[in-house]
Amino acid sequence: MNILVTGGAGFIGSNHVRFLLANAEDRVVNLDLLTYAGNLENLAGCEDHPRYRFVRGDVRDRALVRGLLADEGIDAVVHFAAESHVDRSVEGPEIFVTTNVLGTEILLEESRAAGVQRFVMVSTDEVYGSLGSEGLFTERTPLAPNSPYAASKAAADLLCRAFHHTFGFPVVVTRCSNNYGPYQFPEKLIPLMIANALEGKALPVYGDGLQVRDWLFVEDHCRAVDLALRHGRPGAVYNIGGGNEMRNLDLVKLLLDRLGLGHDLITFVADRPGHDRRYAIDASCIAAELGWAPTVDFATGMARTVDWYLANRPWWEKIRSGRYTQYYAQMYGPGGRHAGADGSR
Ligand code: NAD
Ligand code: TYD
Repeated sequence: MNILVTGGAGFIGSNHVRFLLANAEDRVVNLDLLTYAGNLENLAGCEDHPRYRFVRGDVRDRALVRGLLADEGIDAVVHFAAESHVDRSVEGPEIFVTTNVLGTEILLEESRAAGVQRFVMVSTDEVYGSLGSEGLFTERTPLAPNSPYAASKAAADLLCRAFHHTFGFPVVVTRCSNNYGPYQFPEKLIPLMIANALEGKALPVYGDGLQVRDWLFVEDHCRAVDLALRHGRPGAVYNIGGGNEMRNLDLVKLLLDRLGLGHDLITFVADRPGHDRRYAIDASCIAAELGWAPTVDFATGMARTVDWYLANRPWWEKIRSGRYTQYYAQMYGPGGRHAGADGSR
């Protein structure tokens, strides 16, 4: 197959490109705009692979998408490209609508016109909103997105449903829980906390830190997406999750323990507006239909992740020395939304 991967220079997309080049025979075309979150260093070593091509471009660029689908003879699309950070969507929702909603619509329409045989929409468990202390998200849980990010992903996710229902377009939707692992941009909880800890900066825990996320090692997510691509039922939705619930505060303490550091850098800061309390996934459907289960347990995945950030310090230091510094000062510095964690304790 000729597979178009969108957003393949981001965290999960770059792991997925590596997964495909290592485990499959397909040709991979990576379409990525290289926003602040896209980084070609995530794909170091892949550039010259005979089955790989990178194209810098926007999923909202209809002419480019149309040309690429035709010129490359694309058979299948795996759609990761998105604005992905909840906190940024609170500060500025508009780009989440244009990239996540309009970008997905253009990709769906052009893919359908080009006769693409398979389309995987990488959605998220955040479309379901928040759980109380009991229960799990199933594929039948009503969608109730709470952040602008989640709402934009829900809109894209439902467009996929509509393209299947109305046009019979063979789209499969995956809704995964929080991923962790190498190449995650250091604005997200785990890499942010590791980098801050290593630099002796405050660790900004939102609110009481008792929010729960269900963590999955990124390679297990990639394998699930690939199974959905090759064997998923057209029109189906598959939840994907680690069965691995953790409270944020416990996770941050665990990271510090792994780094051999004390807990004194932990700083409670203003909560995220509309902060979802708990996510947890029932992944029994993908287990039963596609035989998927996580293979990397949390202790192993966390050790691999911390070791990767320790061994790849130049990777995240470079990111943190650039434009990201401005964002961090704006969010966490004096007067910022989460003021109190700028390191000036
Ligand atoms: P990321 O922010 O690390 O990467 C997003 C990538 O998309 C970047 O390389 C960026 O340059 C690219 N991009 C952004 N706008 C684009 C555009 N208009 N055209 C082309 N490329 C564009 O995100 P991630 O964490 O790797 O997430 C990837 C996908 O997985 C997203 O759709 C996200 O909603 C979904 N997801 C993420 C998680 C998670 O825990 N990170 C969990 C479930 C689902
Ligand atoms: P994040 O990595 O942004 O993922 P998501 O919001 O998509 O789940 O955040 C994970 C959890 O960590 C979430 O409950 C918010 C919390 N968090 C903090 O407490 N401090 C931080 O600095 C960040 C970035 C997140």
